[in-house]
Amino acid sequence: MSEPASDAHEARIRELVSQMTLAEKIGQLSQVNGPHGHIPDDFAHAVRQGWIGSILNEIDVDTVNAIQRIAVEESRLGIPLIFGRDVIHGFKTVFPIPLGQAASWNADIVRIGARISAIEAAASGVHWTFAPMVDIGRDPRWGRVAECLGEDPYLGSVLARAMVEGFQGDDLSAPDSIVACAKHFAGYGASEQGRDYNSTFIPEGELRDVHLPPFKAAVDAGVGTLMASFSDIDGIPASGNRFLMTQVLREEWGFDGFVVSDWDSISQLAVHGLTADDRESAREAALAGVDMEMASRCYIEHLEELVQAGEVPLEAVDRMVANVLRIKLRAGLFDAPYVDPRQFPEAGNAAHLQAALDAARQSLVLLQNRPHHHEPVLPLDLDRIGRLAVIGPMADKPREQLGTWIFDGDPSLSVSPLTALREAIGDQAEIVYEPALQSSRDRDHAGFGAAVEAARSADAVVLFVGEDAILSGEAHCRSDIRLPGAQEALVHAIAATDKPLAVVILAGRPLALEAIGHAAPAMLMAWHPGCMGGPAIADVLTGRFNPVGKLPITLPRVTGQVPMYYAHRNTGRPPTPESFTHIDDIPLHAEQLSLGNTSFHLDVWYRPLFSFGHGVSYTDFDYANLRLSSHSMPMSGTLTISVDVDNVGSREGTEVVQLYIRDPVASRTRPVRELKGFRRIHLEPGERATVTFELRAEDLAFTGRSMRPVTEPGEFHIWVGRDSDAQLHTTFHLHGD
Ligand code: NOJ
Repeated sequence: MSEPASDAHEARIRELVSQMTLAEKIGQLSQVNGPHGHIPDDFAHAVRQGWIGSILNEIDVDTVNAIQRIAVEESRLGIPLIFGRDVIHGFKTVFPIPLGQAASWNADIVRIGARISAIEAAASGVHWTFAPMVDIGRDPRWGRVAECLGEDPYLGSVLARAMVEGFQGDDLSAPDSIVACAKHFAGYGASEQGRDYNSTFIPEGELRDVHLPPFKAAVDAGVGTLMASFSDIDGIPASGNRFLMTQVLREEWGFDGFVVSDWDSISQLAVHGLTADDRESAREAALAGVDMEMASRCYIEHLEELVQAGEVPLEAVDRMVANVLRIKLRAGLFDAPYVDPRQFPEAGNAAHLQAALDAARQSLVLLQNRPHHHEPVLPLDLDRIGRLAVIGPMADKPREQLGTWIFDGDPSLSVSPLTALREAIGDQAEIVYEPALQSSRDRDHAGFGAAVEAARSADAVVLFVGEDAILSGEAHCRSDIRLPGAQEALVHAIAATDKPLAVVILAGRPLALEAIGHAAPAMLMAWHPGCMGGPAIADVLTGRFNPVGKLPITLPRVTGQVPMYYAHRNTGRPPTPESFTHIDDIPLHAEQLSLGNTSFHLDVWYRPLFSFGHGVSYTDFDYANLRLSSHSMPMSGTLTISVDVDNVGSREGTEVVQLYIRDPVASRTRPVRELKGFRRIHLEPGERATVTFELRAEDLAFTGRSMRPVTEPGEFHIWVGRDSDAQLHTTFHLHGD
């Protein structure tokens, strides 16, 4: 009988490490950028000497195989290289941005998207993706909010797991599986001002309860690697942070894969001011537990001397090398180092595009659908619409709708909403198209006249606004998250025609839409929906697909409200409708009082424009009869929560039923609501489903004052409903066994 894989791998690792020179060991810890299609002599020499362990950004499969052949057949120990790439939301076939995928609240959608991305990327020689990004995103100014899975640790954990499963498949050594990388460990999403690379200050309890759970979920799902964040966290930048990389990750969670730095993030330890130079940076990163260095050369230039000087123990280097070799073994690289592209289906094939269409449809969130002169604006009633005006700078931008991080995306696969609407509507109605603005950033009103004319001549208008792809993503942050350019003015100009108006927003982040919310009776949040975004949007507009998406992140009214998230603390003076005072209602010379005040801004209503979990449908769901298996639960018990949901509208639909709790009295204050479960149900008109959830004491745990998980007895609140404002409410009491 053969040894179990892990024992055989560990024996192989020991044998290899015992044969390696220190220079070869450090080579395994070094990742360099690919030579892009040709192999210079000095590059080949470094691979032959074993001075490189990994390459990123080389996706010419012949070059990948040729470099790999040098490593495997010409280096002393024949250790294969691992090739990495940012495969974030698709390879050739582009899926919605991760934030859009998160709006599906559908783990299957996320898993399938990652699976297809893995298949297409693996065919180009990619062994390892730098995804999923599981940073909690609570500040929409931050450009990388596009890449995250939303604001919530529970939803983020469910989807992080699914994405890891999708990339890595059932068997990490299969040719079409790629190693996943949960990033950026940790707290990157809390960058101050929503400005990329900025410092973060995160109390440990908050770090553990909010930012770490999706990483833990990825580790539990078997993620092969993690990436250290660029950011400084409480004065110790992540790439030199022993608490994160060793205490939490290795000692508490038992992670046995490897950690890669971010690009130059080890040499940047000196820029942060943690170290004086690259030598010290290499030492701090190695001692913290960052196994592989991306791009910068601190390890390759200084680690050998640091070991000889006794500043970094050889055992630490051996452990780092073992972590890297373990993942190379698990990925099957020793057994099958070369890629045969003929083994793979064609990228962008019909099945892959269909999956991108499913994902895009489910990512669309119908924010509102108010009637216009007593008639619903959506779905478009093609029996009554003779002419449809399609307006706006985002209606026909196949490249922009793909969103950020699409290095390898094939723009020729992208179908714009205008093209898809023409196809879907055919000769049922005439379509008149006016972009009005050249891009989302255009400030020139010159095209408004023609657009207003087109709207006036039509029976209904669909207006496509939003953000160009380049306005979100790494280093692309905004201090003002309203619609850029002259788009707000365009919405108002078109709304003034008093035609039935649906506004579709294609953007890489939540936008502050209060300024247009009143003008546009129907609003559809489409994020950057990927290559099949156009057909998906057309399906929703024409009613072929009934929207199911729910916001994975709060939509504030104005930028000044951010960070704004549903799971906030109550404060000692929570606002109420009675205590709220608008700036215009304060009399001149009013006295400043300190009595009776509550927590709000004077110039904006304190609630978000659209709450976390919100999204409406073309049908209506009624919630009733919230009941518990008992109102008293022992610590070792399980509570069953049930609710009846009725489809009371006139068409079929899917609803995401959401469960929230609150622990109102705790030794560390708890959020006013916390998502603890969700279920998707599909109901025909008139159909009812009983939805059940189970809760155990561990689901109620939080990080106590000792920084360990605690579940404290007492009363708990429960809400079940359609969003984080759910009204159906009950309570139960948790007590000792
Ligand atoms: C920097 C980004 O922060 C990271 O997410 C990405 O994976 C690397 N660059 C490699 O491109």
